[in-house]
Amino acid sequence: MPKSVTTGTVSNTYENPYPSPDLEARFPFVSYQFQRRPKAEMLERAQAFHAQAEKRRSIRMFSSDPVPRELIELAVRSASTAPSGAHKQPWTFAATQDPEVKSILRVAAEKEEQANYLLNRMNAEWIEAVAPMGTDHHKEYLEVAPWVVVLFEHRYERRQDGSTRKNYYVKESVGMAAGLFVAALQNMGLVTLTHTPSPMAFLRPLLGRPENERPFAMFPIGYPLEGVKVPDLRRKSLDEIYVEVGQEE
Ligand SMILES: Cc1cc2nc3c(=O)[nH]c(=O)nc-3n(C[C@H](O)[C@H](O)[C@H](O)COP(=O)(O)O)c2cc1C
Repeated sequence: MPKSVTTGTVSNTYENPYPSPDLEARFPFVSYQFQRRPKAEMLERAQAFHAQAEKRRSIRMFSSDPVPRELIELAVRSASTAPSGAHKQPWTFAATQDPEVKSILRVAAEKEEQANYLLNRMNAEWIEAVAPMGTDHHKEYLEVAPWVVVLFEHRYERRQDGSTRKNYYVKESVGMAAGLFVAALQNMGLVTLTHTPSPMAFLRPLLGRPENERPFAMFPIGYPLEGVKVPDLRRKSLDEIYVEVGQEE
């Protein structure tokens, strides 16, 4: 922490207000609508969100029960509220509920994963890391789940006139959108798996996406198959993932 900053005694006076008058003259700004909540309510909401987040699991056996498109679209809209470098929103969510497309995806993913799992494309460390998940080259869930969404990152922006522009912090931005997508699905009562058949390049031509897009992850989505099991994983404790720096209040 910089020496000049003393916690608790910092005033609300800004020498350099944002936006500056000059900036506001050049770009549109609106007032941010925000309502402070009572401390007790904040704690309650924080605990409720955490309790829900703790219940989320990656699911590898889905029911084939249908899921309305509107729910998928809402999850995508929620995901797309994620912060992104320079507000480029460098993502496309390609969704399918078409059995034929899902079948093609399964066959192609299984082909890649066969090379990983059966033809020794995985090194010993990778094999050891995924062992508790018990994953293999079978990807039946890609056919059984009612929806499969493939998230593409935009390596660069392609404009209507054919020109291109750089995107910034693409992986970080798309990762944030992916997290929000998973949370939105859980919040509405659905389950998913973050699936990354490696390498994933086959997904772009299969789904007819343009050259500036690269697959980031795929998400089979639906309801869990009744009685489905998940690995009995332990999550890191707060002590293992959190440090506080500087003087404590
Ligand atoms: C970027 C990423 C890639 C993943 N790829 C796969 C995958 O290809 N296959 C799979 O079965 N699980 C995959 N997973 C799921 C993880 O194995 C899972 O999130 C982890 O074991 C923790 O379990 P939980 O999601 O139930 O908490 C992936 C997760 C992430 C975040």
